[in-house]
Amino acid sequence: MIDNRTGLLGVIGDPIEHSLSPALHNFVLEKLNLNYCYHSFHVARDRLRDYFQGFHILDFRGINVTIPHKESVIPFMTQLSPEARILEAVNTIHFELNVITGYNTDSAGFLKSLGEIRNQLKNNQIIVLGAGGSARAIIYALITQQVGEIRIFNRTPAKAENLALCFRDKMAYRNIFGHPMKKDQLSAVMADAFLMINTTSVGMHPNVTASPLDPAIEIPASIGVYDLIYNPMKTQLLQRAQAYGAWTLNGLDMLIFQGIAALEIWLNRSIDAQPFLPELRRHLIALLGDASVQKD
Ligand SMILES: NC(=O)c1ccc[n+]([C@@H]2O[C@H](COP(=O)([O-])OP(=O)(O)OC[C@H]3O[C@@H](n4cnc5c(N)ncnc54)[C@H](OP(=O)(O)O)[C@@H]3O)[C@@H](O)[C@H]2O)c1
Repeated sequence: MIDNRTGLLGVIGDPIEHSLSPALHNFVLEKLNLNYCYHSFHVARDRLRDYFQGFHILDFRGINVTIPHKESVIPFMTQLSPEARILEAVNTIHFELNVITGYNTDSAGFLKSLGEIRNQLKNNQIIVLGAGGSARAIIYALITQQVGEIRIFNRTPAKAENLALCFRDKMAYRNIFGHPMKKDQLSAVMADAFLMINTTSVGMHPNVTASPLDPAIEIPASIGVYDLIYNPMKTQLLQRAQAYGAWTLNGLDMLIFQGIAALEIWLNRSIDAQPFLPELRRHLIALLGDASVQKD
């Protein structure tokens, strides 16, 4: 129940109407019996300053940031976490007295979503499809786990090469290479890869029949295929990977764990999501209106 002591949290974006964050956070807050309320705010770029003043005056504890503001909020921060500085993007903001700290919880959410598989990343070869904002967060996470090699494939090859250069420079990680999304190169690399992660938006609702992979590419059964997309839960890419016998993961758990990581920052406590994780997944899947079954 909202009362005089209810703490304020929220998310800003443009558009924001389809964000699952309010449903996710309010579910967790209720499960933990915490007196906070999480609301979404449709914020146009030219209103960012006004909203920041508003959050400050209204004593907000924290906000999440989504497209298109992850970079443009940075000038409003007093300080950035190491991840946010390297990723040059903020998805979580913590307000404390006069200090505003920008974090990025996408990398932590991705690693947590891998569960036990995280322990197998070290020294292995990883393929990243896409070179946008989420690819950055995934690559940062992979480098922290000391993966053996990262191959980035992207429609616009220059972006893949620039991203590889960026991590060579910022994290002194040398085994990272950018490639065009070419069938032969990708097939050759896939034979030895441990995991392939789709960070492109190809295959996302409503374009559910699209796939970032050329249909002529065979997927080795030995590889894991992770699609950051969670709507639909089983993209065309994941359907094909499963048909080849590869193990698969979709993006729902990353969404959940990046959100929980934000709550941990705002509340300054660790949160064990395991007791309510299956119920939370079902809650979000129902909101997505997707009938596919998610692993528990
Ligand atoms: N599960 C989660 O928690 C989570 C978190 C973040 C993002 N995501 C999902 O990840 C996806 C990407 O998000 P983002 O923020 O990284 O987006 P972004 O920065 O806009 O990057 C989009 C990427 O997709 C590629 N792409 C877009 N349309 C394409 C097409 N028709 N053919 C080939 N490549 C195409 C782009 O290639 P170019 O460089 O050639 O344009 C770029 O590499 C979205 O579906 C988003 O929902 C999920």
